[in-house]
Amino acid sequence: MLTSSFLCETPEQTFQLGEEIGKKAQSGEVWCLTGGLGAGKTLFVKGMAKGLGFEGNVTSPTFNLQNVYEGRLPLYHFDWYRLNKAEEVENIGWSEWLSREGVVVVEWGDKFKNLFPPNMIKMAFEPYTETGRRLIVEGHNESIPRVQEIILCWPL
Ligand SMILES: Nc1ncnc2c1ncn2[C@@H]1O[C@H](COP(=O)(O)OP(=O)(O)OP(=O)(O)O)[C@@H](O)[C@H]1O
Ligand SMILES: [Mg+2]
Repeated sequence: MLTSSFLCETPEQTFQLGEEIGKKAQSGEVWCLTGGLGAGKTLFVKGMAKGLGFEGNVTSPTFNLQNVYEGRLPLYHFDWYRLNKAEEVENIGWSEWLSREGVVVVEWGDKFKNLFPPNMIKMAFEPYTETGRRLIVEGHNESIPRVQEIILCWPL
């Protein structure tokens, strides 16, 4: 496991970190985003989508089950906030989404941690002031080199 943290002192910085990550995202990346309401997860996904070259609207898929943003690679955006059981995720074809070409990102992913593949990348969002967020990244197994690259790209 490789971990590091980033300080995002404004919403713009959180967006920008997402954008940098989106620019270099590779097919097969699976992101588990954790942190409370309003911690900045959706804003980060907006940045990722922008970095992947998607120019449309990004909203959290709270009532539908996932959103797909077509950029250089498709970004599959999930939000498990309202889900109660792992079966609900399995029933929406989770394993098929994981096997597609593209990048998967899940808000409230820690609700069903066991559903993630061993190469997942975790990002925990921790508010420390009204506009400050500490983002803690965690790479596992095959994602460790990618996380190393992310750490090097971000000066903060
Ligand atoms: N440094 C920061 N990074 C990210 N968001 C910030 C920051 N400072 C303030 N904010 C504000 O916090 C809010 C984050 O909202 P966002 O929808 O991204 O949260 P979320 O983690 O997706 O919440 P939810 O669990 O409800 O989906 C936005 O209103 C944003 O402007
Ligand atoms: Mg959200």
